[in-house]
Amino acid sequence: MWKVSLCDLRLHPDDHRAVADAMASNWLTMGPRTQAFEEAFAHALDPVAPPFAFAVSNCTVALHMAYNALGVGPGDEVIVPSLTFVATANAALYTGATVVLCDVTSPDDLTLSVDDVLEKITPRTRAVAPVHYAGQPADLRRLVAECSRRGIAVVEDVAHAPLCDALVDDGPPRALGTIGAVGCFSFFSNKNMTTGEGGMVTTRDPKIADKLRLLRSHGMTTLTLDRHRGHAYSYDVVELGNNYRMDELRAALGTSQLSRLPENNRKRGDVVAMYLPLLRRLQGLQVPFADRLPQGRSSPHILPVLLPPGVDRQRVQEGMKEAGVQTSVHYPPIHTFTMYKDSERVRAERLPVTDAVAPRLLTLPLYPDMAEADVAYVCRKLGAILQLCAAEVQP
Ligand SMILES: Cc1ncc(COP(=O)(O)O)c(C=O)c1O
Repeated sequence: MWKVSLCDLRLHPDDHRAVADAMASNWLTMGPRTQAFEEAFAHALDPVAPPFAFAVSNCTVALHMAYNALGVGPGDEVIVPSLTFVATANAALYTGATVVLCDVTSPDDLTLSVDDVLEKITPRTRAVAPVHYAGQPADLRRLVAECSRRGIAVVEDVAHAPLCDALVDDGPPRALGTIGAVGCFSFFSNKNMTTGEGGMVTTRDPKIADKLRLLRSHGMTTLTLDRHRGHAYSYDVVELGNNYRMDELRAALGTSQLSRLPENNRKRGDVVAMYLPLLRRLQGLQVPFADRLPQGRSSPHILPVLLPPGVDRQRVQEGMKEAGVQTSVHYPPIHTFTMYKDSERVRAERLPVTDAVAPRLLTLPLYPDMAEADVAYVCRKLGAILQLCAAEVQP
């Protein structure tokens, strides 16, 4: 349907083989392949000191488990950027807590504003959830320092940034998802690596790890596999948990996908490097994060641009569609959603940067094997449509 789609999932023959092997193993629910995936993921994040890592059904439940494990509940407040996928905030609402929406830093930096977080902290603030939007690290150096001074937990939403690093102190760069109290990853099919649906929750804290292990599987003290192997006969239930487990087919796919993630992350960076000089030629267009230097391993997940102020975004999207180019918007801000506007457990005050950038946001196609000719085509079509729009704005 599209000449250039927003993302392009290309499964490798090894992915097919891994899933077929899991099928043939005759054990489909959480078992040795899930454990192997968790170990490989933890080592990929940090080969020297791997964190605890638990494979789960998706990133939304990873976030829910994170907030639960930290004891977030009714009466508590969780600060979340309004410019994120709704799951970051929904998962806090599931716990009964209040969501306090914060602003992003600037049109050049669409990660949460630590200044705004500091203004919105109250004695009830229990957690802050920075989102490494588009694969770009939020300012964890400052956020973690300010939060730990106040006893507030940082839950990293790492859905966009697996195997990306940030500088947080004078030491070497550290993997996103291992810096705050808990890290939450997504393996949804448009992400940098996929298991179809899937996620991972990580922590360095053994006590939080114990909670996460229980919360994933009904709060039960033994697993079905333990009983199958004769390691246990029964179990106790010591927490109100859920069934948030991953299965062996997804875990097998995850391990296979993970082995190619560093290369695919690099390729995404190469595609953005092809885009930048072409986008810079388009008058009035802004590219957030364009001048950022990588802090260790890095990878763009999506390519958001800001249209010139006043340009009708829908018109641009329609023009791009006519040219066969799929575009998207990451994201309609959470405070504009009906459910969030109506909820008594949501506070959305003073979000000037989000309000200014939201109508201008447009996401362009980006995937590891995107051809240079397709990048040029997208930029050429976007330039032509913007010229038309400019002529209409100033007749
Ligand atoms: C920033 C962010 N957080 C959380 C999620 C939720 O991930 P999942 O679909 O794995 O539940 C997504 C998914 O798109 C996301 O982009």
